[in-house]
Amino acid sequence: MSADYILEATGLTKQFRGFYAVKDVDLRVRRHSIHALIGPNGAGKTTCFNLLTTFLPASAGTITFNGRRIERSDPATVARRGLVRSFQISAVFGHMTVLENVRVALQRKTRWSHTFWRSERVLQDLERKARDLVASVGLSPWEHTLAGELSYGRKRALELVTTVALEPELILLDEPMAGLGHEDIEPAMQLIKEAAKGRTVLMVEHNMKVIAHLCDHVTVLQSGSVLAEGSYEQVATDPRVQVAYMGGDGGH
Ligand SMILES: Nc1ncnc2c1ncn2[C@@H]1O[C@H](COP(=O)(O)OP(=O)(O)OP(=O)(O)O)[C@@H](O)[C@H]1O
Ligand SMILES: [Mg+2]
Repeated sequence: MSADYILEATGLTKQFRGFYAVKDVDLRVRRHSIHALIGPNGAGKTTCFNLLTTFLPASAGTITFNGRRIERSDPATVARRGLVRSFQISAVFGHMTVLENVRVALQRKTRWSHTFWRSERVLQDLERKARDLVASVGLSPWEHTLAGELSYGRKRALELVTTVALEPELILLDEPMAGLGHEDIEPAMQLIKEAAKGRTVLMVEHNMKVIAHLCDHVTVLQSGSVLAEGSYEQVATDPRVQVAYMGGDGGH
């Protein structure tokens, strides 16, 4: 695999009792890009994410992450190697404050990297990092608020930042804008852009404006298979994609 690609899946397939939720999908994600995985409801996007994180075992296919085959690894190992799915690993603890949540995520990362020494300096460093991360998503005024009491949009921001705290090389985001109010979309896009710096993001998203703004590359799934891929402009003007999205014959 070329070093340009952080993730490569070939022939990825998932069968549920004879039904192919994902069928023979080839997917290459370029390092340091924001890559969108789109498609109509039931196209297999979430199943793909579950396969890539090995949360679900694939029926067939290979997954190579950073040059290593991972399709038989367990999800914890995959996460430790740097492929982390938001809202899976980084559950937000409602009974802890915003700052505590970020601190816990940072400590988890510290354990992962086997530098589990608790000198005063390390703790101060941790505290500073936690505060910086909280500030980076505009949550400083709520540092000491219990996560469970945050508004929906702020909770999603906290979830994203606890994922970033794990310093994953590749972040998978499944519909990060879902449930956000209109006014929260722009700040959330800014957040993702920020989170993507020096990393790679693979995201499932339905909002085309968000995709047009954020994503370098788009893969379109339909009925479990890749229908099209390319830049946003390329896929948006692809008649096959337009038909897939209208769920019919394109009006003809
Ligand atoms: N555990 C399962 N058992 C059986 N069928 C499943 C299972 N998980 C998903 N499916 C089916 O696989 C197909 C793809 O589902 P998936 O959730 O991956 O779609 P999606 O693209 O994420 O859709 P959405 O946009 O609605 O989130 C659907 O038809 C779904 O019903
Ligand atoms: Mg889904």
